[in-house]
Amino acid sequence: MMSGLQLDLYEDGERNALADAMTVMVEAFDPAFGEAWTPGQLAGIMTMPGTWLTLARVDAMPLGFALVRSVLDECELLLLAVAPPWRGRGIGETLLRDCLTMARRRNIVSMNLEVRACNSAVHLYEKIGFEYVHRRPGYYRGKDGKLFDALSFRIDMRA
Ligand SMILES: CC(C)(COP(=O)(O)OP(=O)(O)OC[C@H]1O[C@@H](n2cnc3c(N)ncnc32)[C@H](O)[C@@H]1OP(=O)(O)O)[C@@H](O)C(=O)NCCC(=O)NCCS
Repeated sequence: MMSGLQLDLYEDGERNALADAMTVMVEAFDPAFGEAWTPGQLAGIMTMPGTWLTLARVDAMPLGFALVRSVLDECELLLLAVAPPWRGRGIGETLLRDCLTMARRRNIVSMNLEVRACNSAVHLYEKIGFEYVHRRPGYYRGKDGKLFDALSFRIDMRA
């Protein structure tokens, strides 16, 4: 793990946590692809039981975050983001592995996710052991209404 990196877990809509996640959100996602969430969407999901947000910070500065929603023994990685200047240092992988650890502690047996086809995040998911499930045509609506396919991935944590 990168030196000085701190992971903080939030299970409610703590205002500073939401603000820090939004700081990373606006930097991390290219509006061309329509993947980023609005502050309202983020605050809304955090009111749902079984949802958690993990922030990666150094010296209180937010560098990345992961957002997961769980229902019974399954969960979904909703968002994973690292601010562009901090990429390629293992922060995304640290966040994702932490989410898997967190999920196992909650007796969750699988994690699902959707990712835009052609997103380099696919390399990270495959490295961790996620398996391709199927393609969803036109899942993301980007700028100017352009549609992008999503790929579904899943990891079985009992394997
Ligand atoms: C995807 C993302 C979170 C990765 O964060 P990161 O901190 O740069 O990733 P890491 O440094 O932990 O990389 C871990 C592994 O992922 C893979 N990887 C990450 N970025 C990659 C890239 N651009 N190209 C190829 N492989 C990549 C590599 O296998 C890497 O392992 P290695 O360094 O041993 O080769 C980051 O690029 C991001 O925020 N992207 C924009 C938001 C997004 O699209 N999120 C995913 C959909 S919600």
